[in-house]
Amino acid sequence: MSLKVATTIDQVREAVGRARQAGQRIGFVPTMGALHAGHLSLIRAARADCSFVVVSLFVNPTQFAPGEDYQKYPRTLDADVQACRREEVDLVFAPAADVMYAAQPLTTVHVARLTDVLCGPHRPGHFDGVTTVVAKLFNIVQPDAAYFGQKDAQQAVVIKQMTADLLFPVEIVVCPTVREDDGLAMSSRDAYLSSHERAQAAAIYAALEAAAERVARGERAVTTLVEQITADLEAAGPCKIDYVSIVDPETLQALQRVTGPALVAVAVRIGSTRLIDNLLVDAGGAVGNNNGAQPTGEAQ
Ligand code: PAJ
Repeated sequence: MSLKVATTIDQVREAVGRARQAGQRIGFVPTMGALHAGHLSLIRAARADCSFVVVSLFVNPTQFAPGEDYQKYPRTLDADVQACRREEVDLVFAPAADVMYAAQPLTTVHVARLTDVLCGPHRPGHFDGVTTVVAKLFNIVQPDAAYFGQKDAQQAVVIKQMTADLLFPVEIVVCPTVREDDGLAMSSRDAYLSSHERAQAAAIYAALEAAAERVARGERAVTTLVEQITADLEAAGPCKIDYVSIVDPETLQALQRVTGPALVAVAVRIGSTRLIDNLLVDAGGAVGNNNGAQPTGEAQ
């Protein structure tokens, strides 16, 4: 079947409605476009267990705080549509902003507590923008399953909570982080990095891996681990650390000691680019299965 590109809600409802009537399982991958191998891994996961795959390409204005990079966020619609065609996506939804936010909205979806930590305090309004747009997209597409990346671990936890709280009949699937050969987590924002900054950015994953090794060797104290990650990041070059945190992977609450599964999460600004990454560790030293992705330098 050939790829359809929809720009209106009616076009999506019609195409998905037909697929559903034909008994197809609907898989949905929400993105902001500028697709890279991380996004493609989600599309492949959807393709593997759904017969009708929908990808949205929408740079959502409400999840950018004032002063963030909404205007300069990369927009590569033609290349994204080509990539979706290669991945045998059935439907792309690429709405203009006024399609998603036609009226003067008075409603926001807010997930409490889980959004007060990690990126929450550094990006005011960000998660409300994410949950509001994802709720709208779920209502438009009405998928059976939706695919998110472990790269944005907090986002995945927040979306799971929203889905459960609002009774969306959608299975949330979280896929492993896809990395460059040197370990850098792929992100549309990597395009902002100068070659010097790009080299420095490899230190983020190296610092996370070093922490996982320290846990494997028996280190349990979160303050010690956080100090070491911070020192590793700072040794790599000038940067501004938003946070280095070790939290419970489900509640996102800060841990004092690593005694079971733990999410090691960092947000660092290198130059003007804000990068996030995380690693699941556990006290047994095994790296969690959501970090099991092989580094890949695969082209888009
Ligand atoms: P975006 O940053 O485009 O990411 C879309 C999806 O791709 C998210 O689920 C994200 O976690 C996943 N992803 C990004 N980089 C990845 C990587 N290196 N490996 C694996 N998965 C990766 O996240 C958003 O858009 C938006 O907030 C959105 C959910 C679309 C709402 O606007």
